[in-house]
Amino acid sequence: MIAPHPFRVFPNPNAGTPGIVVLPDRGFRRAREEIMSWPGYAPTALHDLPALAAQAGIATLRLKDESTRFGLGSFKALGGAYAVAQALAAELARRNVDPRATSSDLVAGTYLDTTRDLTVACATDGNHGRSVAWGAQRFGCRCVIYVHATVSQGRVDAIARYGAEVRRVPGTYDDAVRQAARDAEASGWFVISDTSYEGYTTVPVDVMQGYRLMAEEALAQWEGPPPTHCFMQGGVGGAAAAVSVQLRATFATPPIFVVAEPDKAACLLASAEAGEPVAIPGDLDTLMAGLACGEPSLLAWQELSRATDAFMAVPDEAAVDCMRILARLGIVAGESGVAGLAGLLLAATDPASRSLLSLGPDSRVLLFSTEGATDPELYARLVADAA
Ligand SMILES: Cc1ncc(COP(=O)(O)O)c(C=O)c1O
Repeated sequence: MIAPHPFRVFPNPNAGTPGIVVLPDRGFRRAREEIMSWPGYAPTALHDLPALAAQAGIATLRLKDESTRFGLGSFKALGGAYAVAQALAAELARRNVDPRATSSDLVAGTYLDTTRDLTVACATDGNHGRSVAWGAQRFGCRCVIYVHATVSQGRVDAIARYGAEVRRVPGTYDDAVRQAARDAEASGWFVISDTSYEGYTTVPVDVMQGYRLMAEEALAQWEGPPPTHCFMQGGVGGAAAAVSVQLRATFATPPIFVVAEPDKAACLLASAEAGEPVAIPGDLDTLMAGLACGEPSLLAWQELSRATDAFMAVPDEAAVDCMRILARLGIVAGESGVAGLAGLLLAATDPASRSLLSLGPDSRVLLFSTEGATDPELYARLVADAA
């Protein structure tokens, strides 16, 4: 089991408040149809982990394993790449080339004469940029990716392999987001951001609609009585919001939903405490690079602020423990992919948190391991002696 580490749980006082529909089902049906048509599409595995469930004192623990998603190593393959296809299709419609171009048309190179002169851009801490670069290569357009100071060279190289130009900028992820937006505005590029801000919602909706497929697959693979809990990691919150929407679209009484963040970058927990989306200060220096975000996505927040039952903040050491626990079970999980598991295992060993989150011997918990060894060198270093 996990070693004892300090952590925080904040029950959301606004859980259950009605609000707007952030991700309409029609948009999800389109995303699902498009993504399932891409060459190489296959559902990822849902692992049943009975021994770990027993150690955590719960009935069932199942983990959706995104390490094999489209060969990109993370669930992000579903979001950014889909948003690239949608942005190109919208531009083809605007130019009266084709009102309803599909990703199959784009993969076939039908509109390459037009798309090869279009450029998509985004900021990334690794996985989103890899998805956008991969999508740009697949769908036939140019791509510029912005990374902040601490993104590892391994991650930069992985993005560049898909033919994107990678630009490194000083500061944090949020600074890279702003730089990408400024340059795109000046150059007439399409910003494919996984975070939504004031006046920028269309693309992040597409990104999140793509993510929903991961949750839909997991629920289709789930056998027996439905999950009672879901623990999901949060960066800007887009992934967690997509999972939350899919759970609520599937179950009349959805599972208890817990969002877990790094304690050094817990902007969603801070926003829940403040009762509104807030930016947190600091250098967000967490090992969980994909979750090193200081400002919630506005759209994601609209979902999470009322559908999340509790927010947790977990330390880097707990994430490393979880990577090692999963490695011993033969599952490759990267540092940003295990915060949900860390949240569950820490809460499960603490009587007050167990009671707060209604965790008990009958609980059936759904988790998402959202990445594999996306930075293989770092992964090897962190789990070296686990096996
Ligand atoms: C592996 C992994 N899991 C989870 C997340 C969190 O996604 P979001 O920023 O949408 O909350 C990220 C973000 O980059 C990620 O890379």
